[in-house]
Parts: sequence; structure tokens; C-alpha cells
Amino acid sequence: MNNFLVKKYNVPGPRYTSYPTVPYWNEEGISKSDWIKTFQDSFKESNTSKGISIYIHLPFCESLCTFCACHKHITRRHEVEIPYIESVLKEWEIYASLLPDKPLLRELHLGGGTPTFFQTKNLEKLIKGILKTTELHKDYEFSFEGHPNNTTKEHLQILYNLGFKRVSFGVQCYSEKVQKAIHRIQPFENVKNVTDWARAIGYTSTSHDLVFGLPFQTVDNIKNTILKTIQLRPDRISFYSYAHVPWVKGVGQRGFDNDDVPKGEIKRKLYEIGKQMLLDLGYVETGMDHFALPDDSLFKAFDNANMHRNFMGYTTNPTQLMIGLGMSAIGDSWYSFAQNDKTLKAYQERVEQKELPIIKGHLLTREDLTIRQHILNIMCHFKTSWQDESLQFRQLPQTLQRLEELEKDGLVIITADGLEVPKEARAFVRNICMAFDLYLVENKPDTQLFSMTV
Ligand SMILES: C[S@@+](CC[C@H](N)C(=O)[O-])C[C@H]1O[C@@H](n2cnc3c(N)ncnc32)[C@H](O)[C@@H]1O
Ligand code: SF4
Repeated sequence: MNNFLVKKYNVPGPRYTSYPTVPYWNEEGISKSDWIKTFQDSFKESNTSKGISIYIHLPFCESLCTFCACHKHITRRHEVEIPYIESVLKEWEIYASLLPDKPLLRELHLGGGTPTFFQTKNLEKLIKGILKTTELHKDYEFSFEGHPNNTTKEHLQILYNLGFKRVSFGVQCYSEKVQKAIHRIQPFENVKNVTDWARAIGYTSTSHDLVFGLPFQTVDNIKNTILKTIQLRPDRISFYSYAHVPWVKGVGQRGFDNDDVPKGEIKRKLYEIGKQMLLDLGYVETGMDHFALPDDSLFKAFDNANMHRNFMGYTTNPTQLMIGLGMSAIGDSWYSFAQNDKTLKAYQERVEQKELPIIKGHLLTREDLTIRQHILNIMCHFKTSWQDESLQFRQLPQTLQRLEELEKDGLVIITADGLEVPKEARAFVRNICMAFDLYLVENKPDTQLFSMTV
């Protein structure tokens, strides 16, 4: 991709795991009654057909990786495990009591933090507690995030027995210099062991998270990381752009200087080289930052236009309702979003009082819902259409005007009543979605809210 375009379009921009994006949610938040009403409506509309998703945030990590932008709680005290599991189950009890029927569970994801921080018996207690009050959808899919340095064979086996068939492992980069800078020593042997065990046990999809743009990372580091990764041939690879957001409270990105972080054209080159290697090695692109082998379900969902995107990232399960459990977890009822308290203490105290621990959220307007659909279409299928009247919105003519510039630069093809993103411009999907994002257009932020799009 030409350097001029990289320079021109390298601006702060959302990753669109939601629309509106979190900084633009209603200032006054969402009332508890609105959140309850909307998730109940969504449940009634979709439970018996699509089923529901549950995301459980397991925030603990033993050691801080200084590049990490996730909501985590660093501790070596494993006594936190049982009280936390109990809090999550209590939170689930509150939701279950507000749902009119038994939930049909289609998707369950354990994210973090580090789910494999927990002992297997505690994870088992958590999952069994959820399964006791749900029925399984015929196409159910359970997945979890494992840290290669503390995932054991027992974790993989017990979770498999409970229905988990997909696992993703954080790898990031195999360069020692980069690993030291991000305070995460990640031996290849550990990644190999967990990947081999997962396969031998029967997991149908194993994924590795790689990150480009980390401090001190070079082209050679990317090449070497991909060559090592390929020896293990994971079914999916997330090739994330390093989100440098040191100003975000609680993120704790430190241990390297701003100047140590590759930016602009240099960062883009890391991506382009990595992407080309993955394509040459038989992977296919399945959405922003994501690659899969052609027989993986994510590629099949992408190919059949069934892929969906929510706070968990890309998923093959197009559910309408996702309940988020745990500290900082975000729920999505399609008509609204709600986020839980971001501190462990406050989260646990509120659940203890049998209160839904939400701190903020957003009730989507009709216009939000229309634009959200376009953004999902672009992020998941690299195209959208406004032929149907229900997909037209107040600022469609102005949006088309904003897209003219991107069209001239070859980033988008505008058709009679829709648009398509050419293959070579897929890295710019965030910029294309930004033309639809009325909150961003109408309220340009004074300070930087988002990571750079390149
Ligand atoms: C919750 S972690 C994965 C599980 C486990 N904690 C681990 O580190 O192996 C989720 C993933 O988010 C990605 N990630 C975290 N911080 C990031 C950042 N600042 N920019 C891009 N990706 C990031 C990493 O690839 C990481 O593996
Ligand atoms: S990358 Fe994983 S292990 Fe490291 S701090 Fe983030 S969540 Fe924890």
C-alpha cells in the first residue's frame, strides 16, 4: 500500500467492536430499567432461534505485560479465585432471575485477563454453575483465552469435557528484545506444548494472537515470528495492530518510550509483510486483523456472510443478545450496551448486594441501529448496501460526500446503492467506518480517544 495513503489515513480511530463506540455512549448512561427491558426484549425475540451469548471476564494475571490494553488485575494471590467465581455466579443468578425462560446457550467465551490463571476445579465450578441454568443450543460453541505459560493439559482436558472446542493463545512476538520490552517472556516451547495438547485432545480450532507494532519490533522479528507460528499451523491467527493508548487509566503501558514504538509507514510495513507471508502460507483474510486456514469455521462464516462482530471480536455466532459477566464486562442486547464496574472491589460489593453491577451504557436510537448495521457489514463482509429504505439514514448524502475522497484514493468502490472495499484496501476498514460514524463526525474529540488506524 502506498506510503502517501498510509500517512494520509493514519489517524486516531475506533476498532468498532460496538457502535456507538464506548467514548460516545450517552453521558447520562443507561438506566437499569432500560437495560433490563432491552435485554428482556432481545431475549424474547431471539432466545428460541439464535440463542444467546455469554462472555465471562476473568481479569487476573500473575504478571503485567506492559503493552497490554485489556482490563486486568495483577496478583499472585490465588485466594482471589473462589470469591471471584462466586461473584460471577451470583451475577448470573441475577440475570437468570430476570429472564422469562431458560436461556438457550449458543456461545460462551472466557476472556481476560487470563482465564488459565484459575485452577481447573474453579473453572469447572463456574461453567457447571452456568450450565445448570441453561440449555445448550444445537450449534453451541465454547471458547477461551489461554496463556501459553500457565495453560496446563488439565485445563485443556477439563474445559474440553465441559464443551470447549476453541482456544486462543496469546503469543505476541518471538523476539527476545521485544519480549523484554513488553515484560512478557514467551518461549516457543510453551506455545508448541499447549497447541499440540489442544490438538491431541480434540480442539477443532486453535488460534494464536500475534501483534505488530510492538516496541523495538523489526521486519525480521515479524518474519521470524510468522515462520515460527507456521511450524505449529494454528487454525486461526489474529494479527493485531498494537494499540498504543498510554493515556487510558488503568492500562499501565510503560517500560518503553513512545519513540521505541514503530509508527506510520514503518508500522504499516510490519503489517504488510506479515499479511503477505500469511497469505502465501495458505491463510485467508477473514476480517480486520484476522486470518484463518480455509477449512476453519471462521473462514466458512466469512465466506457465507454469517460472520458477526461484538465485544469478543469476530464470531461465527450471530446472536442478538450477549450478556457480559465479571468485572468490566460489557453486555450487548442489540438495542443497548452496558458495562460493569471496572474495579474488582466495587464489582464484587455490588453483586453481593444482589445488584446488577453496571456503571455505564447506551440505549441505541433508531439511527444508531441503522449505522451500526452498516458498520457491522463493512467490518464483517467488507461491503454494505442502503438499497433497502430501512438502511437509509439522516446523513447518508453527507456520508457519501465524505466517502468521495476515499473513493478517489481507491479505498472504496461506491456502487448505485452501496459500497465495497477492494481487497487491497481492507487494512483501511476503520477509516471507511469512520465516514459513517456520526458521533465522531459531529463531535470531533479534543483529546486523543482512540489508537491510530495504522
Ligand atoms: C486477554 S489476552 C490473551 C490471554 C492471556 N492473557 C495472554 O496474554 O496470553 C488478549 C490478547 O489481546 C491482545 N492485546 C492486548 N493488549 C493489546 C494492545 N495494546 N494492542 C493490541 N493487542 C493487544 C494480545 O494479543 C493478547 O493476547
Ligand atoms: S497480555 Fe494477557 S497476561 Fe499479559 S497483562 Fe494482558 S491479559 Fe494479562
